[in-house]
Amino acid sequence: MADFILPKNSRLRPGKLHKAAEGATNIRKFHVYRYNPDDKENPQVDTFEVDMDQCGSMVLDALIHIKSKMDGTLTFRRSCREGICGSCSMNVDGTNTLACTKAIDDIKGDVKVFPLPHMPVIKDLVPDLSAAYAQYASIKPWIQAEMPAEGARERLQSPEERKKLDGLWECILCFSCSTSCPSYWWNGDRYLGPAVLLQAHRFIQDSRDEKTEERLQDLEDPFKLYRCHTIMNCTNTCPKGLNPAASIGDIKKKIVAQKV
Ligand code: SF4
Ligand code: F3S
Ligand code: FES
Repeated sequence: MADFILPKNSRLRPGKLHKAAEGATNIRKFHVYRYNPDDKENPQVDTFEVDMDQCGSMVLDALIHIKSKMDGTLTFRRSCREGICGSCSMNVDGTNTLACTKAIDDIKGDVKVFPLPHMPVIKDLVPDLSAAYAQYASIKPWIQAEMPAEGARERLQSPEERKKLDGLWECILCFSCSTSCPSYWWNGDRYLGPAVLLQAHRFIQDSRDEKTEERLQDLEDPFKLYRCHTIMNCTNTCPKGLNPAASIGDIKKKIVAQKV
């Protein structure tokens, strides 16, 4: 049996212990959330003894090691391994982050790996992001411009206009921020959450977009925008060092400015 101590009143079941191969001396324990919709049971937390002499330095390397050497049924998303696709976001050691850029050495003691919190889980570490992506689609995440581009084929920006997109274009839509936000936990059906609002801000700030007014009007809603209560978990957790709380604040300011 796994030696993960289940929280009091937890609905988790005790999991399995997967031991390292005999002779391994450099072992780290990984407690990993497991859920299989097919077995109709509550989730469990399995413990894997990972031989660090056979494994890379990041949490994603350990998950890949587990999947390829210890339990092929472990399910998680990943693609780039470089912190740019956003697929491998999960809760590691109590914080939402990217497994591929989180160094195992930065974690003290056993490593706890859970899916992003407060999202339906499809399997193991894979959350269902359909609702979050539908919210993303709702903000029309593309440049809306009806005027033909003048002369050139491209819509040009001055360096100052381009600079306004810094801190926004880098968002990889990993949803670490939204799933760390208590307001999003409780009102995620109607509150857009920090990830989608940062994306909305990205298009509001873009000098090439002609629908700024409509975008702001659409966001002026007690739930879509004003459920942000400046809790700041979003900014504290963003693995790309972005500041969704500042984006939300700027959208609110722009809505007020539009009225005066
Ligand atoms: Fe991820 Fe940061 Fe974008 Fe939020 S703002 S989705 S945490 S990259
Ligand atoms: Fe949530 Fe961030 Fe606002 S944590 S309440 S979106 S400041
Ligand atoms: Fe792409 Fe981690 S695998 S961000």
